[in-house]
Amino acid sequence: MHSPTTHDGTSRRDRSTMRDYTGTTAIVTGASAGLGVEFARALGGRGANLVLVARRGDRLETLAEELRDAHAVDVHTLALDLASPEATETLVAFVREKGLTIDSLINNAGFATHGEFITTDPARLDEEVRLNVGAVVAFTRAFLPEMTASGRGVLVNLASTAAFQPVPLMAVYGATKGFVLDFTHALAYETRHTGLRVTALCPGATKTEFFDIAGDGARVGDFAVPSEVVAVAMRALDARRTPSKIVAGAKNSISSAIARVLPRGLVTPVTARLMAE
Ligand SMILES: NC(=O)c1ccc[n+]([C@@H]2O[C@H](COP(=O)([O-])OP(=O)(O)OC[C@H]3O[C@@H](n4cnc5c(N)ncnc54)[C@H](OP(=O)(O)O)[C@@H]3O)[C@@H](O)[C@H]2O)c1
Repeated sequence: MHSPTTHDGTSRRDRSTMRDYTGTTAIVTGASAGLGVEFARALGGRGANLVLVARRGDRLETLAEELRDAHAVDVHTLALDLASPEATETLVAFVREKGLTIDSLINNAGFATHGEFITTDPARLDEEVRLNVGAVVAFTRAFLPEMTASGRGVLVNLASTAAFQPVPLMAVYGATKGFVLDFTHALAYETRHTGLRVTALCPGATKTEFFDIAGDGARVGDFAVPSEVVAVAMRALDARRTPSKIVAGAKNSISSAIARVLPRGLVTPVTARLMAE
């Protein structure tokens, strides 16, 4: 039976099973642009109080005002470089100082370097690993005890379809996302009896600021719309059993399933050709 769709792409039938996050608190990293903005809107729209983190504090404050007005939720903002060595200490201190207990964490901040590894700025590569991997591990470790004790929230780590095979010309990015994917699968298992829903979201190319930073040559396939990618994730998180990975888009689901099982010697040159197009 056809169920009518609402403005956020969810159907009326989906809405009846939508989880309520009222009274919980969620951290969204990278909430100044792209998918992070949409996660903040989606969780705020379902009643979650929010801690929004990224470097561009002016953008975070604009979003915070929008969400406070629209949903009457508490929204805190923290302008912070999450790749810096003191990031975890600063974030934890901020949360404690505000007297907050964290139920949900969206480890979303991330970026890619595109090009030959041998000529890529080593400082950018270091930042990429510290943000895409280091921050994800450190923030998860810092807040997992209270998130599992609460059992009312979600841990979403942003992986990518780049996680399913080596990615020449984005070698470090692909490897960081492969780490995030397997790390998240393992954590989903370790926390399976706690009520915390744990998943790795794997979008394909999505229309955000990501490619302005990585460079256009990094794009493979058509662009998805960020609000739709987040709606897919929120629906999967509503399910009775949350999958430990969510691949956004039917085509991406098929290609990533194939890429995962193909021998690396076969899939790597194919990916290299696609990246070079
Ligand atoms: N777009 C895609 O095609 C795509 C596909 C698969 C996976 N992903 C993943 O999705 C996540 C979100 O990406 P997006 O597409 O939404 O990209 P985006 O539009 O470029 O947004 C990236 C966010 O990360 C924040 N960020 C970057 N470096 C930071 C740092 N050092 N400290 C704090 N915050 C930092 C940015 O904020 P500030 O600049 O204000 O700090 C921004 O809010 C990333 O993990 C990305 O790898 C994206």
